[in-house]
Amino acid sequence: MKKVLVTGGSGFIGSHTVVALVESGYEPIILDTLENSDPLILEGISKIIGFAPKFYQIDCRDKTALWSVFQQEQPEAVIHFAAYKAVGESVSEPLKYYSNNIVSLIHLLEVMDRFECRKLVFSSSCTVYGQPDTLPVTETSDAHNAASPYGYTKVVCEQLIRDLAKAGCPLQSAILRYFNPVGAHPSAHIGELPIGVPNNLIPYITQTAAGIRPKLIVHGSDYDTPDGSGVRDFIHVVDLAEAHVAALRWLESTALSADDFNLGQGKGDSVLEVVNAFMRVTGVSLPFEIGPRRQGDIEQIFADVSKAKRELGWQTKLTIEDALKDAWRWQLRLAERS
Ligand code: UD1
Repeated sequence: MKKVLVTGGSGFIGSHTVVALVESGYEPIILDTLENSDPLILEGISKIIGFAPKFYQIDCRDKTALWSVFQQEQPEAVIHFAAYKAVGESVSEPLKYYSNNIVSLIHLLEVMDRFECRKLVFSSSCTVYGQPDTLPVTETSDAHNAASPYGYTKVVCEQLIRDLAKAGCPLQSAILRYFNPVGAHPSAHIGELPIGVPNNLIPYITQTAAGIRPKLIVHGSDYDTPDGSGVRDFIHVVDLAEAHVAALRWLESTALSADDFNLGQGKGDSVLEVVNAFMRVTGVSLPFEIGPRRQGDIEQIFADVSKAKRELGWQTKLTIEDALKDAWRWQLRLAERS
């Protein structure tokens, strides 16, 4: 059984990936500071997989701690999720984002090299495309157009990985560009855990439906889209988690040193379509009103996912409706606990 280090393994995508790895016969080892997570996610993972995965509460910036984990575990591959991801906060605190997201990757790469760990799956984001000129966006589009410091940390990290490949470093990397990950595990044992007021659409919807927020503001109804609201490519987090297993398998079979893949459903849904779908599939009413555009938002983006389908042999199986039902079940589970 292959050991895979999962940094940020108790985060939203990380926790679902840990489950997918176990289901596919890998042995995940979780590294997380728990700064943006909670032990209840680790408990949730244990409930799903039937045992407690190995967990180290360390920060990837702490090279000595990373070193000792590698010494102890000798992982064969790393999936690197650990990073700050709040777009708005990155605008007000850019140094915090550049420092954490980039230093973590550098330290990880240095330690991986020392321990001859040669396979990396890196979490990137469609944010690297900004507002693309043509849709659906392919991997060959300009990927240096981020609109925030958070986005630029992904641009820089991607570049660093590609520069290593160009320099002949024996590392092999899969760079995964996520579109909008949503949903929760169907068991409702794990899901998204926003700290404070959520920025992202789906947690805001579920918290509003649960009565925690008075109403959802739909940011903008005057975009050049079919119903005027923004359009995004929402991908169920369980499908996304499985793409990481596919990426590991691809790394085990390819001779390439680095490549990038769009991971989305390959279609766009508007914010208003999502709001209506939520009410339809849950039967719960959702108070909302149309507000102004949110600063920094792009109008629309959705992915061309044919490369991931072709090269990774992966495709989505779940729909936005599945994601909304699962996110709602998770929200109800959280309410039971509090
Ligand atoms: C954001 C980040 C992206 C990150 C992703 C993580 C930006 C510019 N991009 O994407 O880099 O990878 O989160 O999931 O912030 N909306 C509302 N009302 C709300 C919340 C959102 O109408 O209360 C709308 C937004 O205006 C947008 C859509 O819902 O049109 C999706 O927003 P959100 O979930 O925040 O994701 P993104 O902004 O697409």
